[in-house]
Amino acid sequence: MRKKAILITGAAGEIGQALIDALAERTATAILTLDLQMLPPEQMRRVTHIQGDILDKTLLSRLVSEYELETIYHLAALLSTRSEFTPEAAHRVNVEGTLSLLQLAAEQSEWRGQPVKFIFPSSIAAYGLPDLQTKMDYSRVREWEWNYPRTMYGCNKLYCEQLGTYFSRYYRQLAAERPVMLDFRCLRFPGLISAFTVPSGGTSDYGPEMLHHAAQNKPYACFVREDVQIPFMAMPDAVKSLLMLTQAPAEALKRPIYNVTAFSLTAAEFRNWVLRFFPQAQITFVPDVKRQGIVDSWPADLDDSAARREWGWEPDYTVERSFAEYLVPNIQQRYQG
Ligand code: SER
Repeated sequence: MRKKAILITGAAGEIGQALIDALAERTATAILTLDLQMLPPEQMRRVTHIQGDILDKTLLSRLVSEYELETIYHLAALLSTRSEFTPEAAHRVNVEGTLSLLQLAAEQSEWRGQPVKFIFPSSIAAYGLPDLQTKMDYSRVREWEWNYPRTMYGCNKLYCEQLGTYFSRYYRQLAAERPVMLDFRCLRFPGLISAFTVPSGGTSDYGPEMLHHAAQNKPYACFVREDVQIPFMAMPDAVKSLLMLTQAPAEALKRPIYNVTAFSLTAAEFRNWVLRFFPQAQITFVPDVKRQGIVDSWPADLDDSAARREWGWEPDYTVERSFAEYLVPNIQQRYQG
């Protein structure tokens, strides 16, 4: 008998660590985690962790021989800035890694006669607006608008959204008998901000970096202009949206891909929120033209009305609540501790 399990790839990353805690509290099903890195010791106790590479096919086949995967949270990815330095490696991890896992989920769905839920986080990076005027004119983009990413990471996410949709609707469409197909569900996240972890290799990182530097009394030079605006969300809402989408009845979902967001801020507004709680913070703006270009191409806001309408999405944390109740108290404790 194979043991039923939930698999989280990229589990040691920011979303992964937050998701492990939330899932461990809610489910009796075994949680299997995969990452190149180890997890913090308190999380190692809550899961079965495999330290390994998503591109290791032998490892993946061993997993399926031992476990019946009910749900897969495929979080493993190289983020946008890092991907620009090693685009081919990013393609391998972000695309080939996703393809292997989709194949694995397709086989599992067929074998168990029930769809495996495949939950995939995508990103604002799947959008690409050509210039600042267009960014102003189309400030709240809908899922099907401006899908012209200008980063390797964005291209990878956009393609994998399509790949997942293909596997859930058309995979082996010419076979004599159609197999049970996987159930692919995807969220496009804004920039995420966690109190417990610091992002690495992303381009929306300037927000969380401002805050974490301020809490440690370290000066911070923000790498984008003050006026640039993108959407953000606190990590508990990211986890909430992942869990809500997983739980949503299949009949309610009219599309495979949903925007979700909480609030939009310019970099100057972000600094003002940080200053409100850390008045001594030293934040300057020293734009890096290249990273600035990437953020300029991302939408100022996301239209998440489809998620609200179809599965009741609503963030818990406004900007005020995010700072006052989640970010600042936890970050202070983290660095004082
Ligand atoms: N936070 C991600 C990045 O900056 C975007 O999804 O790469």
